[in-house]
Amino acid sequence: MIEDLWYKNAVIYCLDVETFMDGNGDGVGDFVGLRRKLDYLAGLGITCLWLMPFQPTPNRDNGYDISDYYGVDPRLGDLGDFVAFTHEAKLHGIRVIIDLVVNHTSDQHPWFQAARKDPDGRFGDYYVWSKKRPKDANKGMVFPGVQPSTWTYDKEAKLWYFHRFFDFQPDLNVSNPEVREQILKVMGFWLELGVSGFRVDAVPFLVELKGVKNPGVKNPYALLEEMREFLSWRKGDAILLAEANVTMDEVVEFFGKNDRMQLVFNFLANQNFYLSLTRGDATPLVDALKESPDLPHTAQWANFLRNHDELDLGRLSDEDRQEVFQSLGPDKGMQLYDRGLRRRLASMLDGDRRRIELAYSLMFTLPGTPVLWYGDELGMGENLALVERQSVRTPMQWSPEPHGGFTLADKPVKPLVSEGPFGFPQVNVAQQRRDPASQLNWTERIIRARKECPELGWGAWKILRTSNKGVLAIRYDWKGNAMVVLHNLSSRPCTVKLDTGGEEACPLYNVLTEDHSEPVDGKRHVVTLEGYGYRWFRVGQDNPARKHKAEPLR
Ligand code: NOJ
Repeated sequence: MIEDLWYKNAVIYCLDVETFMDGNGDGVGDFVGLRRKLDYLAGLGITCLWLMPFQPTPNRDNGYDISDYYGVDPRLGDLGDFVAFTHEAKLHGIRVIIDLVVNHTSDQHPWFQAARKDPDGRFGDYYVWSKKRPKDANKGMVFPGVQPSTWTYDKEAKLWYFHRFFDFQPDLNVSNPEVREQILKVMGFWLELGVSGFRVDAVPFLVELKGVKNPGVKNPYALLEEMREFLSWRKGDAILLAEANVTMDEVVEFFGKNDRMQLVFNFLANQNFYLSLTRGDATPLVDALKESPDLPHTAQWANFLRNHDELDLGRLSDEDRQEVFQSLGPDKGMQLYDRGLRRRLASMLDGDRRRIELAYSLMFTLPGTPVLWYGDELGMGENLALVERQSVRTPMQWSPEPHGGFTLADKPVKPLVSEGPFGFPQVNVAQQRRDPASQLNWTERIIRARKECPELGWGAWKILRTSNKGVLAIRYDWKGNAMVVLHNLSSRPCTVKLDTGGEEACPLYNVLTEDHSEPVDGKRHVVTLEGYGYRWFRVGQDNPARKHKAEPLR
């Protein structure tokens, strides 16, 4: 078994360069600013950064509308700044992955401009056209309520074009071999500039070929294999992390047989976690985890609590979703696209440290690789005065200084959260850094623990039966070591009786505190958990040479 799969034990941190740190005082975050904050990120312990799109863009969908795949948005710096940044990130032991947005371009991209001028010319077949307005033009919108249709008439081309997202994001015809070559070329370019892979945007639509009249390929999934093969040749240890909010039956196709995506976000676990937390009942999450197929050995789930989009609860039943809405975002203004919540984690959980820690502890110990959203390590909140998903994309809160220390300019690119319990005067890096009990320092410690527990990233896992439905217990086994992690999703304290799932009666050594557990009554353990309590145990072995028993045998 190859042990070089770095992403199995990685801690990924997502940020938008535009809102992280302004290095030149013009109000917009940039690569110079981000570079200065590498010490902070290394100190936090993250091992991989995921950068949201930073290429030239009309910026009508936060950069997910790219007009030049080979450049840097001049507001954020230039290619030289980018390379200086990736170089320095490497010196800090931090890998960088970037968004790969190739389901669509901006309508300002020269390919689309050429295509609409001359639909029969070279670039015409780069996009998806129809002579008549398709019957399903007002179906399948990703942003219901804000996006009126999926087909728009282009006056210049005198044709309708398909766009899964907004009308300024025409879909590329990825069945066209020339478009596929372009995608690989884009990947090759950024790999050469130091990135370790890509978060691939909108993957389910990349394999859908909707509206394409004469697809140039028979098997749409072959694109994912081409991407993986190319990636592996150009950079053996680079990864593809898929944004694919799909069912567990479908997800198998995205992983392939060690030949498509290495990582896929676990949207199902994410949504059911919130339902479980709302109900104080681990069952929905347990059911979601049990649905997970066995993964090929290079494959891995990516776990997250929040990201830059709405918290999408679209896979829950209407009733279940309403239940979560009522508990975590009851006001209409907190909800979005009929399916989600436009809030950050800490504010959704009312700043309740017990629930925030439970949520993070769980995310760090679910089967897979954890992915954090910048600012959540501090407990930042949202600004509901901003439209749609912008509410959770406010600048990083560095200090209590003006504009949270994000910029010296008078006007930041987006207003900071400045008032209330989550405003930057209350929630910021500078103050939390000095406070050993702060959420920032807690996060730093939990990240350290996660990295020191490779069983969690690599191990075979199974769900253990507990005597309490509020508690999720998972056992991991890897290379002769085992861990058992417990999470009480309910506010009520409880005592669980637990069979650790191994052959022998073993003590359980607590990795986070001195609160260890000895077996009682044969192999069984009896563990008392506070409301929202969590435990990370390493299963003990009888080895007298081990002085520090919570350490793994390596
Ligand atoms: C998914 C991204 O996460 C979202 O922010 C974006 O609007 C769409 N893809 C379109 O690129």
